[in-house]
Amino acid sequence: MVPEEIRQKVEALRKEIRHHSYLYYVKDSPEISDYEFDHMYRALVDLEKEYPEVVTPDSPTQRVGGKASDDFRKVRFRKPMLSLANAFSADELRDFDRRVREGLGTDKVEYITELKIDGLSMNLIYENGRLVQGLTRGDGRVGEDVTANVKTIHTIPLYIENAPPYMEVRGEVYMPRKSFIALNEERDEAGIMPFANCRNAAAGSLRQLDPHVTAARNLAFFAYALGDIQGLEIHSQEELLKQLEIFHFQVNPNYRKWDSIEGVIGGVNEWELKRHDLGYDTDGMVIKVNDFAQQSSLGATVKDPKWAMAYKYPPEEAETTVERIIVTMGRTGVLTPSADLAPVHLAGTTVKRATLHNMDFIHEKDIRVGDHVIIYKAGEIIPEISKVLTDKRTGKEEIFEMPDTCPICGDPVQRIEGEAAYRCVNPECGGVVREKLIHFSSRDAMDIEGMGPSVVDSLLAAHLVNDPGDFYTLKQEDIEGIERMGEKSASNLVAAIADSKGRGLAKLLFGLGVRFLGAKGAELIAHRFRTLDRVIAAGVDEIQETEGIGKVIAGSLYDYLHDVKNLTIINKLKNAGVLMEEVVQETEGRAFEGEMVVLTGKLSSMGRREAGDIIKRQGGDVQSSVTNKTTLVVAGEDAGSKLEKARAKGITVIDEETFLARAGVPRQ
Ligand code: IVH
Repeated sequence: MVPEEIRQKVEALRKEIRHHSYLYYVKDSPEISDYEFDHMYRALVDLEKEYPEVVTPDSPTQRVGGKASDDFRKVRFRKPMLSLANAFSADELRDFDRRVREGLGTDKVEYITELKIDGLSMNLIYENGRLVQGLTRGDGRVGEDVTANVKTIHTIPLYIENAPPYMEVRGEVYMPRKSFIALNEERDEAGIMPFANCRNAAAGSLRQLDPHVTAARNLAFFAYALGDIQGLEIHSQEELLKQLEIFHFQVNPNYRKWDSIEGVIGGVNEWELKRHDLGYDTDGMVIKVNDFAQQSSLGATVKDPKWAMAYKYPPEEAETTVERIIVTMGRTGVLTPSADLAPVHLAGTTVKRATLHNMDFIHEKDIRVGDHVIIYKAGEIIPEISKVLTDKRTGKEEIFEMPDTCPICGDPVQRIEGEAAYRCVNPECGGVVREKLIHFSSRDAMDIEGMGPSVVDSLLAAHLVNDPGDFYTLKQEDIEGIERMGEKSASNLVAAIADSKGRGLAKLLFGLGVRFLGAKGAELIAHRFRTLDRVIAAGVDEIQETEGIGKVIAGSLYDYLHDVKNLTIINKLKNAGVLMEEVVQETEGRAFEGEMVVLTGKLSSMGRREAGDIIKRQGGDVQSSVTNKTTLVVAGEDAGSKLEKARAKGITVIDEETFLARAGVPRQ
């Protein structure tokens, strides 16, 4: 028997963890530090270990662990998951509006526009507030059971307070662009085929037999519709979105209500360019009749509802030619082919190069030197070739072959069994050494300011460094001697190197360049083990037990940490005073408690997003424009109309210096 007080303690902890998880993942404004959160979580794990009878499937500890149902069992929907009819022009939207008004016999129609998130739709079934099943759309009548995998998505609540007895919530599972880009980088290093876009990556991540893999993929969910529901009356799309927020779902904030189709068209045009700045992919806008009674009176065809429409934006693509294919080296010696392209303008930049990832990619798309190709930007950033225009071939195109020898050291190149990647396995290869040093000092790793590729090249040429441990014994006079380094830059570099010593275990582990271990994986390991000594002492199974770490990464890290050469580098770093522990973030102050802040102009010490994060962490809220609710404006350089508006309204305006002082952030 479990004592009542234990049950109560478990329930209280779960409630608290749910609350802070919601603030962290959905609201993006945590109130406590990761460290405090981990303590709370650990307390719950310990209690559940001691009293296994209290474990329930909706406990926050049960996000990862369940088994995916074998081959994704098929389940019939109570209400079909319809798709949407498409519109590609303003006139098609006007036609839709005409049909709606005629169908209803009134001109009084309100529309809601929402962003069309480019992911895959999901039906979540809640019974008495508990998530019991997650189903993909399948063919719209019968979906696939992916419950164990959707449970790993932190923006999907496992338990909802004050929920009706039965409720199906529908929405879109998507992968944020940042996660998509990081995932593809890791796949390139591992010689696995990259995903073409965020949607494919999200779909591939959901259809995993091991929920640990899904958990590591950083998926998210926007809720926007209901399936079947009992015990709750909702009257409009607007009311539904508000209710979904109350239930702690993430609702995309960019929805709007309109009372005319011309307003809708204005909204659709407004987002055509703005959507590129979002952190996730959208492929259009969805227009819905707001009133549910009007929706049901309009009804549906077999395929689509008559009360909604998807407006599709044209994909951003460009045509160009492949001028040559070059080979560059990655941090673990992987040789990556890239295409040099005839420069072409695409989505705001001039594109001259596209990665070709690996030989399998080149073969699959049959890309040849001289080919006419269509390119697009994956995740809005990475130029990719989508297809070859074979009709335009002249016969002069050349098939590319990977060189047999490393372009840097001349040693034979190897293709490892079962991998698409070719690598140079000579540990002394100048190229491998160089890439490792550049990677170690890069921004997402130890972030040594000023230590870019050209400085690394100069240090290598002067035989001053051979591995990352050597950075920390460099003296000012060593650096002054190298090309283009004056006294001032040398002293800045020495200071930057010293400064990097305290980055902490996650950055260090990532910086070491262990094969398969990405930035996210390094964070998970650092979080779990806290000190490098503990990671070194851990067995491969123990490493693999870390949430989000699979067999391949665990094996690779274990091997790395049991190689004498690597341990020598680690010892060098340790002796130089490099921090070998996870840094615990102190809880910041509450300097912006209750403030509604607008950031405008350019800040010299950080980006506006970073400044916004600081404000949110310290109790404030950030708005994009000045309104009557604004209480504070932070004005950087060249602040324009927002600053004028704030002044006119008599709102307090502070400059960057004052902002940093108030936030307690030292100026660098
Ligand atoms: S409503 C019956 N709203 O677009 C109405 N769909 O082309 C069902 N989608 O299958 C859909 N964002 O996967 C709706 N805000 C949004 C959406 C959205 C993305 C997807 C959804 C749907 C597809 C239809």
